[in-house]
Amino acid sequence: MKRPIILLLSLAFGLQGIVCSSPLLHYDSIFNFGDSLSDTGNFLLSGALAFPVIAQLPYGETFFGHATGRCSDGRLVVDFIAEASGLPYLPPYLALGKGKSFQHGVNFAVAGATALDPEFFIQRKLGKVLWTNDSLSTQLGWFKKLKSSICTSKQECDKYFKKSLFLVGEIGGNDYNYPFFVGGSLNQLRAAVPLVVEAITNATSMLIEEGAVELMVPGNLPIGCSAVYLTLLRSQNKADYDQNGCLKAYNAFSKYHNNQLKLALEKLRQKYPHARIMYADYYGAAKRFYHAPQHYGFSAGTKTACCGGGGPYNFNNSARCGHIGSKACSNPSTYANWDGIHLTEAAYRHIALGLVNGPFSRPPLRTSLLGQSIV
Ligand SMILES: *[C@@H]1O[C@H](CO)[C@@H](O)[C@H](O)[C@H]1NC(C)=O
Ligand SMILES: *[C@@H]1O[C@H](CO)[C@@H](O)[C@H](O)[C@H]1NC(C)=O
Ligand SMILES: *[C@@H]1O[C@H](CO)[C@@H](O)[C@H](O)[C@H]1NC(C)=O
Repeated sequence: MKRPIILLLSLAFGLQGIVCSSPLLHYDSIFNFGDSLSDTGNFLLSGALAFPVIAQLPYGETFFGHATGRCSDGRLVVDFIAEASGLPYLPPYLALGKGKSFQHGVNFAVAGATALDPEFFIQRKLGKVLWTNDSLSTQLGWFKKLKSSICTSKQECDKYFKKSLFLVGEIGGNDYNYPFFVGGSLNQLRAAVPLVVEAITNATSMLIEEGAVELMVPGNLPIGCSAVYLTLLRSQNKADYDQNGCLKAYNAFSKYHNNQLKLALEKLRQKYPHARIMYADYYGAAKRFYHAPQHYGFSAGTKTACCGGGGPYNFNNSARCGHIGSKACSNPSTYANWDGIHLTEAAYRHIALGLVNGPFSRPPLRTSLLGQSIV
């Protein structure tokens, strides 16, 4: 009689086939830093926008049944990692004190956040385009503030954080998105990559110094396959597109960032041999479904947004998802792209699967010291 129960559980957990009755990952808590790819409500709670569309349906329609502040129709990668660890979904930091417990971790990510501080963008006359000033260093400041209520002595903190997973990103994508969308050139932005990577590795170092041992640092997605890039940066020249219909130069840019990040993480591993620093290959995990959409159930395609206001990729800057003139598709799970910028729950699930089960986390999340005892 046991089988049906396990089956039901694994369906409920969403990570079909990888979550059994006991969790795959044995973390006691998760701390997440990042942007809209992992924000579970901070941007909304920050009040940065008076009428944010993510505060209403269709955001959240697939899983939660109501808007949560997540920039998707349902769960994000961080939610699936929490499920695989048998932990509750991470409360947004800005909801703490409103009856939310931080015993099993906290989410510091804010939609629109950058790895570099706002000053970097203000100096380049891009300050006005930022949706939020809650950059990575602000998020780290929140973590330090919270830490004193989690543990006091170094010994106590080390003991607690040894069983925690730290997700440092994805972050950095917006450092490029903002300038690209207002006409920044590939060459200009290539020059900013070392600085963005340094901000990410600085944050990683700081967390290790604070007691983190298990850390996962994701790279950037193949931005050349994203509806917003395909629309705003479209080209008349067929040769600018690869065999999957993605913009070659922008995907190459993501790879350039990712390669620098990987090299920098290798240096960190040498500096902190006691820490387990995992690189999460979001690019590779997502590239799979852009390459073979049908194999992943994306019968409606991977590049056209489910929710939008028209245009060849259903991304219309004058009628974005949630605004007047836009509408959502009837079956989001057949789309990889949710609103032109963000992915659907179905796409995030495939990325999470690739991280938890491999091979898109190096070293794999499942072989972590804390996970070794599980089959
Ligand atoms: C960010 O900070 C700048 C300078 O203090 C301010 O002008 C801007 O309105 C802030 N932006 C947001 C989204 O809060
Ligand atoms: C990284 O940390 C170093 C040393 O503290 C600092 O000099 C540098 O400005 C930081 N870089 C970034 C991009 O924050
Ligand atoms: C984009 O949205 C605007 C405003 O709703 C509309 O006038 C325009 O026709 C839309 N463009 C496309 C290509 O659908």
